[in-house]
Amino acid sequence: MNGVTDTEPRQTEQLPDLTTTAGKLADLKERFHEAVTASGQAAIEKQHAKGKLTARERIDLLLDQGSFVEFDEFVRHRTHAFGMEAKRPYGDAVVTGVGTIHGRNVAVFSQDFTIFGGSLGEVAGEKIIKVMDHALKTGVPMIGILDSGGARIQEGVVALGKYGEIFRRNTAASGVIPQISIVMGPAAGGAVYSPALTDFVIMVDKSSHMFVTGPDVIKTVTGEDVGFEELGGALTHNKVSGVSHYLASDEEDALDYARTLLSYLPQNNLAELPTFQAEPELEITDADRRLNTVIPDSPNQPYDVKTIIEGIVDDGEFLEVQPLFAPNIVIGFARVEGRSVGIVANQPSSMAGTLNIDAGEKASRFVRFCDSFSIPILTLVDVPGYLPGTDQEWTGVIRRGAKLLYAYAEATVPLVTIITRKAYGGAYIVMGSKQLGADINLAWPTAEIAVMGGQGAVNILYRGEIKRAEEAGEDVAAVRTKLANEYTYNVASPFLAAERGELDGVIEPAATRVSVIKALRALRTKRASLPPKKHGNIPL
Ligand code: HXC
Repeated sequence: MNGVTDTEPRQTEQLPDLTTTAGKLADLKERFHEAVTASGQAAIEKQHAKGKLTARERIDLLLDQGSFVEFDEFVRHRTHAFGMEAKRPYGDAVVTGVGTIHGRNVAVFSQDFTIFGGSLGEVAGEKIIKVMDHALKTGVPMIGILDSGGARIQEGVVALGKYGEIFRRNTAASGVIPQISIVMGPAAGGAVYSPALTDFVIMVDKSSHMFVTGPDVIKTVTGEDVGFEELGGALTHNKVSGVSHYLASDEEDALDYARTLLSYLPQNNLAELPTFQAEPELEITDADRRLNTVIPDSPNQPYDVKTIIEGIVDDGEFLEVQPLFAPNIVIGFARVEGRSVGIVANQPSSMAGTLNIDAGEKASRFVRFCDSFSIPILTLVDVPGYLPGTDQEWTGVIRRGAKLLYAYAEATVPLVTIITRKAYGGAYIVMGSKQLGADINLAWPTAEIAVMGGQGAVNILYRGEIKRAEEAGEDVAAVRTKLANEYTYNVASPFLAAERGELDGVIEPAATRVSVIKALRALRTKRASLPPKKHGNIPL
């Protein structure tokens, strides 16, 4: 019996003996077999030849061994258009069900490109909708594996309607259960918006593509020549557009990243954070003392903020999210005392750590994710300000930069902020400042907190003094440096902020790890709420 072409009623001599229990069991077994082999060997080999696993192989690698329980394996489409009735494989073009990852329940769908190109028609849509409803009802993360030619062309508006229902569920689930999309093949047209609505998008190098309009349409409409990879490949979406959060080297790497990511996340917005056994040293260690030498003497010299992150968190383990997009800000997950924290940090080794539109949007979405799922946020600040330029102003740094302010100001999770070096102007405020609602704000003695840096302030405050030095033939650079140093010492000193209570303390860098542990302990029982409202109106 061939599941792909088996549409004719079978003749009596082909039927198992359904008058006996043994015969009925044999029939069931045969149907199960048919469901898992519905695409046929040739289609599977074609999939493998592209370096891609099948929908079921992917589920097997994603979930704990033997934990998968399938839903709807006997669903078949009911379409007659375009001779579709001749091909009604069990399960249609998506495999759905539940299982566990690290022993915790998850729901999953995995589009099957070997059947109708993984396209989404009425019943494939219904299967996805059912498993999403299950995830929402039971409060478990929803993982979608996408490999699909999009809306099933033969089914027209019925297929489009199912996408609408999926988008509505993605939106309802946002902030209630974590949603992860792993794109492992094409995701074209409006179909890209389901992953876009989820919290994390993982793409596989060279084999996944996402675009709203493909190369042919672009060529026709705009005349641009662009290939699939450049237009919507994994590298493009990780580095340029910021649509994707992780560039996996291959499918196993993608599935592995999803498993690791989940280990930091709660099951839903009402569940406790996963907690791991940890007995941290509460005295300053030799490893902690290494942080005392991270900040260079020259304020213009960069350093890698990940050294600081790794020096603070458990076992130096940091799972970075979106590492290739807007690298001037670093976001990701780690653990402190075995409990998850979200980390947001300016990166002085990229664009001097300035904030721009991309960095602001990257960090805001992350802050909102953490806040939705009660993950405390640790913010590390070394920011000289916003990136100046017409490009930024005209592409909406005001409107889009406001998102990060909104995200921090709205967050009710524990917020701990450490200023390591520069914290200037609006960028000081936005990066988890006290005034915006952070709970515990600390600074290193190397911190400089002011409206602007010393050199900039001198240009404005001491214009007359500089002119006088020029006219007197003095060493203007030396005068400038002296005045800038005075400004930094007198105005930008962290002790001034501490004097006013805008910092809760100034600490030796070596004490940071222990201070963060104690701060998060003190905040574990934090309760905060916003005034009741339908929802806010974040600048978009
Ligand atoms: C029905 C489809 C299909 C689709 C692919 N197939 N896409 N069947 N509906 N949307 C079928 C093919 O006919 C083929 O069937 C099999 O899947 C494998 O496809 P191939 O083309 O042989 O594979 P490949 O060369 O790898 O190319 C993959 C592809 C291409 C790039 C995805 O198939 C393609 O361009 N498909 C159409 C994409 C598209 O425009 N979709 C609509 C997007 S709009 P056989 O029987 O020959 O093996 C959309 C709207 C969503 O999705 C709206 C949301 C609001």
